Amino acid sequence: MHKETKTTSAEKAPNSASRASNEMLKHTPVLLNEMLAQLFPKNGKVYVDATFGAGGYSRAILNSADCKVIALDRDPSVISIAQDFSREYGSRFFFNLSKFSDIKNMLNCEVSGIVFDFGLSSMQIEDGKRGFSFQHDGPLDMRMGNDGDLTAAQVANSFSKDDLRSILRLYGEERLAGRVASAIVASRPLSSTFQLAEVVRAVVPRRGTIDPATKTFQALRIFVNNELQEIHSALNGILSFASGGLNDISVVTVAFHSLEDMVVKNWLKSNSGMVKEKTRGVILPSNQEIANNHRARSARLRSLVVRAIVGQGRAPKEKNTNCNIPEGKIER
Ligand SMILES: C[S@@+](CC[C@H](N)C(=O)[O-])C[C@H]1O[C@@H](n2cnc3c(N)ncnc32)[C@H](O)[C@@H]1O
Repeated sequence: MHKETKTTSAEKAPNSASRASNEMLKHTPVLLNEMLAQLFPKNGKVYVDATFGAGGYSRAILNSADCKVIALDRDPSVISIAQDFSREYGSRFFFNLSKFSDIKNMLNCEVSGIVFDFGLSSMQIEDGKRGFSFQHDGPLDMRMGNDGDLTAAQVANSFSKDDLRSILRLYGEERLAGRVASAIVASRPLSSTFQLAEVVRAVVPRRGTIDPATKTFQALRIFVNNELQEIHSALNGILSFASGGLNDISVVTVAFHSLEDMVVKNWLKSNSGMVKEKTRGVILPSNQEIANNHRARSARLRSLVVRAIVGQGRAPKEKNTNCNIPEGKIER
């Protein structure tokens, strides 16, 4: 199985800055109050929102203290939202169009906390042209940003049956992965979300209210965007950034399925000397939140702290404590 991670030019992107519009500001942030309570923003400090999306988390952080926010997202369609933030918050807000796996290279100052709200925004899911949803017909694309070449159509149409089966099993936890992989290979070429969903529905029996295509779509999306590796690299980047730093860093993660959460949990376990849980286990949304926002039903939040290793024989690295974020700068 080969996963391409090559960076491509913006012309090849499935999305563009022009796609962002007020229409898109429909994402309801999940576990927002719980995230804020754990991050506990303070005046004069700097926080990173590693998954900017519609900016729900960034706004809450900026409004809760006189602090600064460095926001990242790999999806260029959020740039216009970030531009609005820059106009509103001036030099307190900085956006960088990048993958969070590059987080270490984005930071040049002391940071007090970092939040991750993994997965897709409602805008990405609801935009049929992005190809994420089997409820909207569109091209089998599924790229979150323009940082990768590989589309879901390329995976479905050119990967071997064995590779497809592994992807479906690993990233979709699809019990009938072999059957789905064979059906995909037999139905080639596949070009649309509706086509793929029908192929899966023909071989996977419906159980309850969950659409049989759910796991296949999840698997392809995770694979196309290298999502689990992205999380792993970002967390390791934070470790190396924090080591020898001047202060501890709060890390809050919100995961929407067990695979994402497992990466965080395993990282916590294997770095237990430096990473501690602030609250034991996961924090779940209230029944009220789930009733108001169906997307919240599978969310789970972890609150961690990464300790700076000052005083253990390692001299603190010299870091910029002022965080001179260029005023309202939007990086492309
Ligand atoms: C669930 S949404 C975040 C919503 C946001 N918290 C809000 O309140 O509006 C997740 C966002 O993370 C972005 N994202 C996912 N994986 C990423 C990665 N590896 N690097 C950077 N951004 C990523 C997606 O493009 C999406 O915009």
